[in-house]
Amino acid sequence: MVANANTPTLTLNNGTTIPQLGFGVFKVDPAETTRIVTDALEVGYRHIDTAAIYGNEKGVGDALASSGIARDELFVTTKLWNDRQTDAQAAFDESLEKLGLDYVNLYLIHWPTPEKDTFVEAWKSLETIYASGRAKAIGVSNFLVPHLEKLLANTDIVPAVNQIELHPAHQQPAVTAFAREHGIEIEAWGPLGQGKYPLFELPEVAGAAEAHGKTPAQVVIRWHLQTGNIVFPKSNRRERMAENFDVFDFELTDAEVAAITGLEREGRVSAHPNEVN
Ligand SMILES: NC(=O)c1ccc[n+]([C@@H]2O[C@H](COP(=O)([O-])OP(=O)(O)OC[C@H]3O[C@@H](n4cnc5c(N)ncnc54)[C@H](OP(=O)(O)O)[C@@H]3O)[C@@H](O)[C@H]2O)c1
Repeated sequence: MVANANTPTLTLNNGTTIPQLGFGVFKVDPAETTRIVTDALEVGYRHIDTAAIYGNEKGVGDALASSGIARDELFVTTKLWNDRQTDAQAAFDESLEKLGLDYVNLYLIHWPTPEKDTFVEAWKSLETIYASGRAKAIGVSNFLVPHLEKLLANTDIVPAVNQIELHPAHQQPAVTAFAREHGIEIEAWGPLGQGKYPLFELPEVAGAAEAHGKTPAQVVIRWHLQTGNIVFPKSNRRERMAENFDVFDFELTDAEVAAITGLEREGRVSAHPNEVN
């Protein structure tokens, strides 16, 4: 069942292409991960976003292996956890082993952990991993502008992406502008606000949904795609996986996009990057 023919791709700053819509597995129970990722692959997703700390890399790898989908049709991201920044090579080897892969498409530093002050060292290890070909691109997550400035000033490779909390109430305009100015693509985590505020009931979202005969979640995902973000909404439920993937048969108007962008109110729903150490 190839349902991903319409998924747009973006080209990262090293020439690697990434499906702009994928599937995230944060808080997916390790015991259920193989079933859930198998469902996602059957629905048509080809881009999976996991992390060492999610504890479910093995389940992801098992689903990929049993899917029969060619490796070069898949895009797999995992992330270096905070307590391994001075031990990144070994941590990466462990992730690859659990995933059962020879390479990942994207490897990220999960948080800057500024109090530890080890992300430059970690990035140098990621540069070595990248040079080995076992990560086809490398990037960061949860980096604010000062973290990016320090990284760029002290290392050779510009991150391919910065994966940050981003949804209509919290768009981090300073971070996204700085990143894009430096050729760093934005990956939006918590794209649906993690269900932590009534995003789907806001008139800007609900009205557009009604106008297009789509659901509020589909409108929010479309807003991400049309504003250039890479997204990977998470759902344990197959019908929602299908709903979130069924977003290529309509387009928001410029006015609808602008109205949703106007919902920005610094409404972070999760941790501040300076407070995760
Ligand atoms: N780098 C980081 O620090 C970081 C942090 C957080 C997340 N992430 C990544 O980003 C991915 C996505 O973010 P997220 O999982 O935190 O949040 P999210 O995708 O914004 O929201 C997930 C929540 O929305 C619900 N949901 C999904 N589709 C829905 C729909 N169509 N209608 C109504 N509700 C729906 C899900 O419930 P059900 O499962 O019950 O459907 C779940 O409770 C993660 O899975 C992970 O890969 C990265």
